Amino acid sequence: MWKIESDRDIHQITDQVIQQLPNVEEPGLRLARRLHHQIVNGGDMVRNVADVLHGSKWLGHPLHPVLTDVTLGAWMMGFVFDLLSLLTLRRWRSSRHAADTLTTLGTITAIPTALAGMTDYSAIKKPAARHGALHGLLNTIMLGLYILSVRARRGGHWFSGMLYSSAAFGLGLVSAWLGGELVYNLRVGVNHSQPARRPANWMPALPDDSLLEGQPQRVRVEGQDILLYRKNGIIYAIGAVCSHAGGPLEQGQFYDYCVQCPWHDSVYDVRDGSVVHGPTTYNQPVYQVRVMNGHIEVKGTEHEPASAG
Ligand code: FES
Repeated sequence: MWKIESDRDIHQITDQVIQQLPNVEEPGLRLARRLHHQIVNGGDMVRNVADVLHGSKWLGHPLHPVLTDVTLGAWMMGFVFDLLSLLTLRRWRSSRHAADTLTTLGTITAIPTALAGMTDYSAIKKPAARHGALHGLLNTIMLGLYILSVRARRGGHWFSGMLYSSAAFGLGLVSAWLGGELVYNLRVGVNHSQPARRPANWMPALPDDSLLEGQPQRVRVEGQDILLYRKNGIIYAIGAVCSHAGGPLEQGQFYDYCVQCPWHDSVYDVRDGSVVHGPTTYNQPVYQVRVMNGHIEVKGTEHEPASAG
């Protein structure tokens, strides 16, 4: 049993609660890794669909939270109209009708919302896996209850439908809180790369003859981790910290002008840091680079890296 003390903050308490729950992390991670394997090895079409669901290359940030607004908004308003129906002893027929329609709308839109969430979950970082698995499990139960609700309503059993959807809505609030934890506390879906504002002036990074063709190197200049890569004699410099979850890009796989992150396989173009494939939704920062007196020098750029939208 967990012990709640007065000076513990909400995160410590909820972390304790979550640790006491049955272990959903391992099976969840196995499922995630299997799904990720299918995405990465499923060919161009599968990868492109996954990119759309991640929000990579077109939205500039993850798609899942955008879709949840539509789904939860419809369900929440459905709950409000159900409540009004209850308070008016079901005499206000339009209220019941509105509740039925909104509950059905939320349930239909939950399908793309869930697909986007599962696609993001397939590349979740390990420290967030437990929260992510619980979030997914609660959402699955919630969706099941909403489907039962829609069926009951369509069969003319509004009261049972209302009970199913109210229980689901309660679960949804807990799940939404977990979603907030995933983003704001565990930093899932946020940009992990470092802005390329520094160094403000040209700074030596590496002797020119130390960077061999096709052999990437990670250097640290004024606190910036930079990936240097020479291809066809031209040197490129982008952030070495993967924007998806902080993976070390210099350890990735290099082909053509692309680097594939070793952690969850995001692909970037080393020429301009742009996203070629998700799960990331953020471009890598790009540095200016030149060779002076036998040294490779780098310089920051004035602007933040653009979102990949
Ligand atoms: S850290 Fe996840 S793709 Fe790079």
